[in-house]
Amino acid sequence: MVRDGCDVRSLEAIMHFVEVGDTTLAYQSRGGGDLAVFVHGFPLDHRLWLDQLDALGDLRQCVAPDLRGSGSSDAVASLVLAMEQVADDLAELIESLGHTSADVVSLSMGGYGALALWERHPERVRSLVLMDTRPGADSEAGRAGRRETAERVADEGGGVLVASLQKALLAPGAELAARVRLRGMIEATAPETIVASLEGMARRADRTDILSSITVPTLVMVGADDGLTPPDMAEHMAELIPTAELVVIPGAGHLPPIETPEAVNDALRAFWERSDS
Ligand code: MLT
Repeated sequence: MVRDGCDVRSLEAIMHFVEVGDTTLAYQSRGGGDLAVFVHGFPLDHRLWLDQLDALGDLRQCVAPDLRGSGSSDAVASLVLAMEQVADDLAELIESLGHTSADVVSLSMGGYGALALWERHPERVRSLVLMDTRPGADSEAGRAGRRETAERVADEGGGVLVASLQKALLAPGAELAARVRLRGMIEATAPETIVASLEGMARRADRTDILSSITVPTLVMVGADDGLTPPDMAEHMAELIPTAELVVIPGAGHLPPIETPEAVNDALRAFWERSDS
């Protein structure tokens, strides 16, 4: 069931709500036609994609959901947000919007969910964009680091992440607009969601082996200055996907949709136009 409402944080845009499994997801939508679903990363929300929604509605119905616990969606019900759960929610969202499949555009943690979607519900994926993400699981040290971060967030709140994430996620010298948008999304994310996402990412499976099974058109995109999932990682991932093309975005770090929105819009437009022809 889809219903409309007002979201005080997005003054001009109407938020929509859809019941998916045992929860309600909020999303923004622009345009019409074939469906494209934009899947945000951690600890963000649908606003990561506002420039893409505004620019690409002539080609697709562009839908950007808030994942469980993020933005205006319902709170997480447990302290683990499994990537499989993210995938199942996306599959149901696509179906609830009346489509059999979608062009799935994902970034980082969103990419972990998109790969799980391909593994669990490949029929729901018409094409795939994997932006600033990776297929592998965390190392032991990576898991331990996430759990330490979760402890800090539990005691001090999500605001403690702002400075370190601004440094880690944005290219050096990132513009004011990108810095303030990133801060706004981090500060709006509930501590429970941050903790659950960290644990879900820590437990995620290594999906490197499924890359060779991807048969839909795929675009691997990465910011040239991404220090978390750098261009050589993206290049390797693209080599393992038979249908993949690689685009490296100059001047962007880990968050090209807000750092270099026009370059991302151009790359998506060109990719979809090629896939459509
Ligand atoms: C993200 O941007 O979603 C995160 O950096 C992903 C991660 O921490 O692995």
